[in-house]
Amino acid sequence: MNAEIDISQVTLETERLRLRPWRESDLEDFYEYASVDGVGQMAGWLPHKDLEESEKILQLFIGEKKTFAIEYEGKVIGSLGIERYEEEKLPEFAPLKGRELGFVLSKNFWGRGLMPEAVRRVVRYLFEEAGLEFLVCGHYVENQQSCRVQEKCGFRHYRLVKTKTSYGEEKDCWLSVLCPRGEKAPEEII
Ligand SMILES: CC(C)(COP(=O)(O)OP(=O)(O)OC[C@H]1O[C@@H](n2cnc3c(N)ncnc32)[C@H](O)[C@@H]1OP(=O)(O)O)[C@@H](O)C(=O)NCCC(=O)NCCS
Repeated sequence: MNAEIDISQVTLETERLRLRPWRESDLEDFYEYASVDGVGQMAGWLPHKDLEESEKILQLFIGEKKTFAIEYEGKVIGSLGIERYEEEKLPEFAPLKGRELGFVLSKNFWGRGLMPEAVRRVVRYLFEEAGLEFLVCGHYVENQQSCRVQEKCGFRHYRLVKTKTSYGEEKDCWLSVLCPRGEKAPEEII
């Protein structure tokens, strides 16, 4: 089942990053990376067309209290969301509390290991402080970059599913699962 999440009072630090709730003043930074071609498409959404579009989504981020801004040297360069997973795609997880991670990083900062650093910190927070019992993370089959981030953070491919992008295209998506150290996913127990 989906766990309740509220990160509106949470700030997490890593060696290079600060993960903290989004603020209205992040709008320019958000638009700067979200409007670049070839970034959002890998996560199922189209580049933002104008500041107004970014502002609407920024307001959702603030209101929904489940998405971290990723801050690097005082600038927001990405987001990491603790999304609701699709329960009907993983019915055997119904007795356990979980969520799905989703993330995007500015193209200018790819390849420096920043997202694995952010994901590891959020995973630790969710298992050790928020009481979650499993995490899901998905990637389109062709998205090797996200696949690598997930592998490096301990996620393992669990089920291949069909999923819809925000612009209505159906795509094949690998769902990977991570359980706290020493615990096994339901399929491995059966
Ligand atoms: C997926 C993403 C968050 C990875 O973040 P990152 O901080 O660059 O992650 P890493 O530095 O660990 O790099 C991951 C892999 O990307 C590849 N990569 C690195 N830099 C790259 C670049 N400039 N161009 C293309 N691929 C690159 C490498 O294969 C790397 O794997 P390796 O470490 O085994 O060599 C980032 O690519 C991104 O934001 N992509 C667009 C959105 C997206 O795909 N989100 C996930 C949706 S499921």
